[in-house]
Amino acid sequence: MFYPTDISPSQLRAEVHEALKSWSKPNDDTSPLSHLYIFHQAGQVRPANARRLTNDLLLQALKTMEDSYDPFLADLLRRRFLENTPVALVANEKNMAEATAHKKQRQAIDQLADILASQERQARQAVIGALEQRLNLPALTDLFGIDHYLQRVGEALLSLEPAWLVAIEGLGGIGKTALANAVIRQMALTPHFQQIAWISAKQQEFWPGLGLQPTAQPALDSETLIDSLLAQLSEEPLAVVLPQQKMALLTERLKAQPYLVVIDNLETVVDFESLLPLLARLANPTKFLLTSRLMPPQTGIASIRLAELDRAASFDLLRHEAALRHMTTLADAAEEQLDRIYQVVGGHPLALKLVIGQLHSLPLSQVLDSLREAQGKRVDELYTFIYWQAWQTLAESSRQLLLVMPLAQNGTIDHLATTSQLAMGDLYDALTQLTTLSLLEVSGAIDQRRYRIHRLTETFLLNEVLKWSQTP
Ligand SMILES: Nc1ncnc2c1ncn2[C@@H]1O[C@H](COP(=O)(O)OP(=O)(O)OP(=O)(O)O)[C@@H](O)[C@H]1O
Ligand SMILES: [Mg+2]
Repeated sequence: MFYPTDISPSQLRAEVHEALKSWSKPNDDTSPLSHLYIFHQAGQVRPANARRLTNDLLLQALKTMEDSYDPFLADLLRRRFLENTPVALVANEKNMAEATAHKKQRQAIDQLADILASQERQARQAVIGALEQRLNLPALTDLFGIDHYLQRVGEALLSLEPAWLVAIEGLGGIGKTALANAVIRQMALTPHFQQIAWISAKQQEFWPGLGLQPTAQPALDSETLIDSLLAQLSEEPLAVVLPQQKMALLTERLKAQPYLVVIDNLETVVDFESLLPLLARLANPTKFLLTSRLMPPQTGIASIRLAELDRAASFDLLRHEAALRHMTTLADAAEEQLDRIYQVVGGHPLALKLVIGQLHSLPLSQVLDSLREAQGKRVDELYTFIYWQAWQTLAESSRQLLLVMPLAQNGTIDHLATTSQLAMGDLYDALTQLTTLSLLEVSGAIDQRRYRIHRLTETFLLNEVLKWSQTP
C-alpha cells in the first residue's frame, strides 16, 4: 500500500538507476518511484501507466539538470539510458576512459536523484502547507515514541473495510491531538482521501472570574457538526438551508468518495453518545478519526489507546525540549538526572514539557521535591502540582496574559495585546516566559504567529487560579 515515508537519498539513487534502466521496457505496471508523491501527482494530472509516468518524471528532472545544473552529465544519461548506448561508445564519444564514464554516470544519477528529491520535498511541503492553512492545524512538533501508533492509526484509516470510526483514546496531555495531527499529514500525501476535514469539538466554558464566555465555537451538536463539515468540504457557500437538505447533501458527498474527518476532543461534545450513530451513518467509505479522553465501549469503533511514553522516548523528549530552550547541561545530562525526572513525572508528554520548562529557572531538586507529593496520586493531581509550581515562578505580566488566554485562544499578537491590555514590551516578556515554560503553544508562520494554551492549562486556570484568586 502506498504510504509516504521519509526519502532516503541512497535508496532514491538506487531507485532512479533502476528506473533509468527500465526506460525502454515495454509497458509496465510497477515503478521504483511509485512511493513518491510527485509520481502520484503526475498520475492525477494525466492518468497513464506506471512506465509512462516514471519516464515523464525522469525526463522532467533531466531537463532541469540540463538547464540549471550540469548539461554534460544530463547528456551522458540521455545517451546511456534513453538512447540505450553502450558505455564504451559513450566514453568514446565524450573522449574519456570507460572507467571515467562509469564514474560520471554515477555522479549524474546522484544529481538526478537529488533533483527528484528536491521536487518531492517541494510538492509535499505545498500539500502540507495548504492543509495546515485550510484547517488551521496545531503546529507540528517533534514527537517521540509514536511510530507504532502512527502506523496503527494509518493502517486503520487506509483499510478499505470497517471499522469506519477510529478512536485515539487516552488521558489529557498524553498526545492524542498531536498524534492525529501527525497522522493526517501523512494521509494528505496518500491518494486515498478526497479531502480531510478537522473539527475541534471544544465545549464552551464559563469563565467565572470575568463573567465572560470565550469566543470559541459553540458546543458541537449534530447540527453544528453537519454545518462545519459542509463548510469545510465545499468550495462555495451553500444555497441549502433546511437541516434535512444539509444532511442529505453531506451524506451524498461522504458516501460517494472517501473523505477523512477528524473530530478532536469528542468527549466534550454535549451528547456524544448520540453523535456516534450519526457518524456511523455518514461513514463508509468515509472514515472518522476521533480523539477522546474517554469512550464508552462501542462496537464498530477501532480503538487505539495511547499509553505513557516509555523511558527511552521520555528521555528523547526531555533532551529535545532542553535543547530547544538552549539548556545545554540538561540536553547532555547523564541518564541518572533524566531518570530522576522520569521517576517522578512518568511518561506524560505534556507534564515532561512543563517540568523541563521550569528547570530553566529552578534547580532540579526543588522542582522534583515538590512534585514528589503528587506521586502515587492521579495524573490530574500531578498536573495541578506542576501548574501551581509554574504559577509561582510567573512574573505579573505573564500571569495577566495567561489568565486572559481562554478568551484569546489561537489569537495573534494583536489579539493578545488587546485582550491582556499589556504594553508591548511586557507582552513580549510574558510570551517568552510562558513559551519557555510550555504554558503557551505557538503555531503559524513567523509573521503570523498564533498562540493558544492547552486544555489542561485552561482547566487549571479555571478550576484553580480563579477559585484561589477569588477567595477573600
Ligand atoms: N510523543 C510525543 N512526543 C513529544 N511531545 C508530545 C508527544 N505527545 C504529545 N506531545 C506534546 O504534549 C502536549 C500534549 O499533547 P496533546 O495536546 O496531543 O494531548 P491530548 O491527549 O490531545 O490532550 P487533551 O486530552 O487535553 O486534548 C503537546 O504539546 C504535544 O505536542
Ligand atoms: Mg487534545
